[in-house]
Amino acid sequence: MDLEGLLEDIGVSSDENTVVPPGDDAGVYRLQDLLIVQTIDVITPVLNDPYLWGAVSTANSLSDIYAMGGKPVTALALLGFDPCNMERETIKEVLRGAVDKLREAKTTLLGGHTLDDREPKFGLAVTGVCEGRYITQEGARPGQLLFLTKPIGTGALIKGVKEGILKESDIEDAIKNMTELNDRASQVMIESGATACTDVTGFGLLGHAFNICRKSGVGMKIEFEKVPVYPQTPDLIRRGVFPKGAKENLTFVREHLRTDLEEWKITVLCDPVTSGGLLFTADREKESFIRERAKELGVSIWVIGEITEERVIKVL
Ligand code: CO
Ligand code: CO
Ligand code: CO
Repeated sequence: MDLEGLLEDIGVSSDENTVVPPGDDAGVYRLQDLLIVQTIDVITPVLNDPYLWGAVSTANSLSDIYAMGGKPVTALALLGFDPCNMERETIKEVLRGAVDKLREAKTTLLGGHTLDDREPKFGLAVTGVCEGRYITQEGARPGQLLFLTKPIGTGALIKGVKEGILKESDIEDAIKNMTELNDRASQVMIESGATACTDVTGFGLLGHAFNICRKSGVGMKIEFEKVPVYPQTPDLIRRGVFPKGAKENLTFVREHLRTDLEEWKITVLCDPVTSGGLLFTADREKESFIRERAKELGVSIWVIGEITEERVIKVL
């Protein structure tokens, strides 16, 4: 269920310093001369390694700051666990993963809270600043290209490992990408003059793409063959190995989709992503600059489609 709709239902409105209407994954607030950007995100364990969980969750929590073109500054941790079922050493490993990732992001951990929780959860509230420009999901314009900076398909991969179909060592690429910060991707995005951006996480590629369409009042054309997908994901999805969120995401976007593709392909595009890349729109003329800059900064980049006037998502 999305927070935005709930906040609307109870009539939460913004004050004069709230720069972006509330309800997005992150918000921008004007504090005197400073634009501060704040977000919070919490996830359940990723695979079996607590250090990995801490690192991935931290990259994921920082990601909404990067998606708005901000730089993270401080963070507060929130860790929920069942004290009878989790060792102190395990918890320390989660925090080690988080602290190392925060150090890489030059972000200071100020503190936080632990709480008793039967289902373990870890994440951070992050505060950052926007220097000059900030990017929302509202600025996509017809004719622009749609860029993506990490492959999709982690939901099925994680499910595959949990069900013993794959080993962790089979998905090293995906694990590396999940822990990777979107800091340099954000730099490419900002320098390219991007006008709309989001990170790709739980709603899957199509869910997040739809959010950009809805907020910008535009549509999209996405080419399935151009979307980067981890090699094992299609087979898992065809075998029905994917988290139930994929179907929920599909239900969420279905009435806005126009496609002749097989159901499994659309399910791939709806698979919930853990700590995914940035999805942004920028002018067509910027494509070669973006590819060049991405190469210089070591960021992967794919053009997966374009923005259209008609308010539907066509998947070819
Ligand atoms: Co998020
Ligand atoms: Co307290
Ligand atoms: Co987000």
